[in-house]
Amino acid sequence: MFKVIESQMIVPNIHLLMLEAPAVARQMKPGQFVIVRADDGGERIPLSIADWDVEEGTVTVVVKNIGSTTDHLASLRAGVSIPTVVGPLGNPTEIKEYGTVLCLGGCYGIGSIFPIARALKEKKNKVITVIEARSSYLLYWEEKLKEVSDELICITRDGTKDHRGHVGRLTEIIKSSEPINRIIINGCTFLLKRGSDMSRPLGIKTVVSLNPIMIDGTGMCGVCRVTVGKTTKFACVHGPDFDGHEVNWAELLQRRKTYMREEVIPLRTSRCEEHAITSSPE
Ligand SMILES: Cc1cc2nc3c(=O)[nH]c(=O)nc-3n(C[C@H](O)[C@H](O)[C@H](O)COP(=O)(O)OP(=O)(O)OC[C@H]3O[C@@H](n4cnc5c(N)ncnc54)[C@H](O)[C@@H]3O)c2cc1C
Ligand code: FES
Repeated sequence: MFKVIESQMIVPNIHLLMLEAPAVARQMKPGQFVIVRADDGGERIPLSIADWDVEEGTVTVVVKNIGSTTDHLASLRAGVSIPTVVGPLGNPTEIKEYGTVLCLGGCYGIGSIFPIARALKEKKNKVITVIEARSSYLLYWEEKLKEVSDELICITRDGTKDHRGHVGRLTEIIKSSEPINRIIINGCTFLLKRGSDMSRPLGIKTVVSLNPIMIDGTGMCGVCRVTVGKTTKFACVHGPDFDGHEVNWAELLQRRKTYMREEVIPLRTSRCEEHAITSSPE
């Protein structure tokens, strides 16, 4: 069993969980992920690592509450235990001396880009970190990211912090900065795709951490199949990092919807039941 050491909502709908998992923490590298289960009968879901502490034996994940398992994880309080934390899984993000690297993170990717930026900085790269959200109140870890970045830039759709707009602003950020040698993107599929679309015409190598549906996370089930440069890859064992300019995004977006009906109906049912119970006159 794996004890929840810390659990908090860091911004609306995004939760931080620090879990006791010493063996996982000892092996962890930036860009890898774990598979967790919130309870014995629950499904296994992949979560990128946002931080870890070898001495304390803990790993930290940032979870966006979008469905039944993430909802359950978000409801866990410090002190309880969960049955499964498997990892580290996937290949670490390639960290070399590239020169200037732009790290882009949105949603849970603001958390998982942190150890990547830290490792790049340790390798003497100049790190420009860009984080994006709908509004400034949805940004988090700004101070933590500043510590490992030479520059931190925010994009908010409502313009409440730095650049107003969405990831489309990336082109002008890149053009107004010094030459960028590599871009690394973590977050939702839309951000990964749009970021790659922006950097393609500029010819900057762009590495994205893909998040297709996964089941076993060990290359056995084939559910995480993606096409990259016309080759079939399993994101869990060949990735999760791939060249964003080579990914077949249309196929990935289509495959992500495979179980939508099965995922949304139980959630709606449980939320309706919850509503019926809480709003019952008795
Ligand atoms: C390698 C990897 C790393 C990931 N890291 C993180 C992380 O650090 N933090 C985090 O919050 N999430 C992360 N994800 C996504 C996370 O695994 C899913 O959000 C989770 O499995 C959803 O489970 P659920 O039961 O709560 O929702 P479900 O009931 O499975 O889904 C609810 C709704 O969300 C949609 N959905 C399902 N999966 C995703 C997805 N990956 N992205 C967007 N919408 C989806 C479904 O189609 C459905 O409409 C990662 C995924 C991968 C493959
Ligand atoms: S999750 Fe099963 S092969 Fe990747």
